[in-house]
Amino acid sequence: MINIEKSTKPLLGDVFVPGDKSISHRSVMFGALAEGTTEITGFLEGADCLATIDCFRKLGIQIEHTQRPVHGVPTITVHGKGLHGLTPADSTLYTGNSGTTTRLLSGILAAQEFDSVITGDSSIEQRPMKRIIKPLSQMGADVSSVKGNDRCPLMIRGGKMLHGISYRNPVASAQVKSCILLAGLYSDSDTVVYEPALSRNHTEIMLRAFGADIHNEIDVSGSAAAILHPGSSLYGMKINVPGDISSAAYFIAAALIVPGSDIVIHNVGINKTRAGILSVLTQMGADIELENADDSMEPHADLHVRYSHLHGNENGRFEISGKIIPTMIDELPVFAVVAATADCTTIIKDAQELKIKESNRIETIVDNLKAMGADIEATDDGMIINGGKPLHGADIDPQKDHRIAMSFAIAALVAKGTTRIIDDECVGISYPTFFKDLNTLINS
Ligand code: S3P
Repeated sequence: MINIEKSTKPLLGDVFVPGDKSISHRSVMFGALAEGTTEITGFLEGADCLATIDCFRKLGIQIEHTQRPVHGVPTITVHGKGLHGLTPADSTLYTGNSGTTTRLLSGILAAQEFDSVITGDSSIEQRPMKRIIKPLSQMGADVSSVKGNDRCPLMIRGGKMLHGISYRNPVASAQVKSCILLAGLYSDSDTVVYEPALSRNHTEIMLRAFGADIHNEIDVSGSAAAILHPGSSLYGMKINVPGDISSAAYFIAAALIVPGSDIVIHNVGINKTRAGILSVLTQMGADIELENADDSMEPHADLHVRYSHLHGNENGRFEISGKIIPTMIDELPVFAVVAATADCTTIIKDAQELKIKESNRIETIVDNLKAMGADIEATDDGMIINGGKPLHGADIDPQKDHRIAMSFAIAALVAKGTTRIIDDECVGISYPTFFKDLNTLINS
């Protein structure tokens, strides 16, 4: 539990946020399936990515921390054994709170010669797995839910010959897309995953860099396809993980809403499929400058953020919906906090995926912002926020959801009195040093 007071001081100075969670997971997974060594700097040592390391160690991969700090972050070395080098785990593979580990690893396990059982914590055991069981089964895999409820634990029987499929996913989901593509690496024909909008494409970018024959195509309507031609081996490489824009989003939000703030967040990943939060906030009047932009494999930049008056259009409204939503799905909780302080009514649509994240985020956002005095209402696929009502401290139960805990720590900075976050430890899932870094910015 942590008590947070309204901030009397602006956020000032510089910060490095930890490495990108999605890229960190993939670097270990693909490194394990590659021939040779993969050296990863900037790896996120949060509980989710450590769960990925644990699972691959159980599958026979040697992974070490080498002590060569870059900005205080050590290097991870993965000794890959090639596409067919994994060995059976001697017990259930435990993925903790991590949906990415669960779904991507299932795609890999479905193509192995051996059987596996995979499960995670109570949140993972609530999250839908039909979305991967269905396409994997179409590919010829044998994946079933042990309790028959389309949830974890999953029993994955190996020794199946997989076939490529053309799969039209009704939602833009990088976890589902990546799961299918990873199984596709082992299939006897091409795999194509279509989605209504391009979800984060770290899998495509990184698999290609490792040597896979894979690319994205986007049509005029914005619908996307990921196309994989199997048969290539993967080769180990050096990976530099940029800072996580999802973690940076908390400090972007704080700097925008705490008067007088002026901060620089260094080396943040700004891949277009992740950077929706930047364009949406800029449209609302946010002063966010990109400095030292580097267009390498995963583009990154320093973000210079200053306190700003945030507003809607001439009618006092601001709406987000459609293809921008997948590009900021994990930032919607903190965006809702910002919207509650903005000088407009914000309408969030097409965000029903929020209901099946680490918590039901439509509920956890709306209930907790209401408790703090915001004028907010849940809808079927999002929420409506009448911004500008003064916030006050409250007891916040993040329901073990790291993104809710951090979003409400930011809301607390502009709420009168004390906000108590019950179970602040869950921030360790994606950002173990969050409170320390926030304090540094406040006390600079
Ligand atoms: C992730 C994809 C997103 C995101 C999650 C991480 C990934 O989930 O919400 O935090 O690393 O692929 P979906 O693909 O289910 O939308």
